Amino acid sequence: MIPDLFAEPRAAMAPGAVLLRGFALPRETALRAAIDTVTAEAPFRHMTTPGGFTMSVAMTTCGEVGWVTDRKGYRYSPVDPLSGKPWPAMPAPFRALATEAAAAAGYPGFHPDSCLINRYTPGTRLSLHQDQDEKDFSQPIVSVSLGLPATFQFGGPRRTDPTVKFPLSHGDVAVWGGPSRLFFHGVATLKDGAHPLLGRKRINLTFRRALE
Ligand code: SIN
Ligand code: FE2
Repeated sequence: MIPDLFAEPRAAMAPGAVLLRGFALPRETALRAAIDTVTAEAPFRHMTTPGGFTMSVAMTTCGEVGWVTDRKGYRYSPVDPLSGKPWPAMPAPFRALATEAAAAAGYPGFHPDSCLINRYTPGTRLSLHQDQDEKDFSQPIVSVSLGLPATFQFGGPRRTDPTVKFPLSHGDVAVWGGPSRLFFHGVATLKDGAHPLLGRKRINLTFRRALE
């Protein structure tokens, strides 16, 4: 029998980096409800980079701390700057998915304290960057894709390293850590479309352990 490589549920992206296709699908209904609960309390907003640009991707957070950016720089904050209140707690289905996906990718014992929720509408993108505002780089990153498909660009330790493109579909989970923890990555401009569950957008959940 010839194996169907495209149906392979697991793809290596780089050393220490794996794409678990469809891993979040069994939880799609619970995840969607939890996203609505979190965003009712801490709405999506477009943050400003230290250089003064407004990000095209809208973001919010749940968990103990949230990644924020403004003219002063990038950092983790225990409060939502919009409300001055703590971020909403991380919903149980979020926490369980992140821990299980990390374990499936070879990182047992991952307990995220932060979940960044990214909302992409058609035409938006996330330029190449490293996730480097966390304290302990031995902890992996777990990144869940929901809604419209996107193209993930995964590079290397230097900004100028070539990138490999991976299609990300609804339910896919990418996990990177160990040797690729600080690799550059980004999301290409989102194409237009409509997703049956989420409509004209893509939602990404990025789980991290930000504090020690
Ligand atoms: C990120 O790198 O912060 C988000 C990745 C994604 O949207 O898939
Ligand atoms: Fe990132």
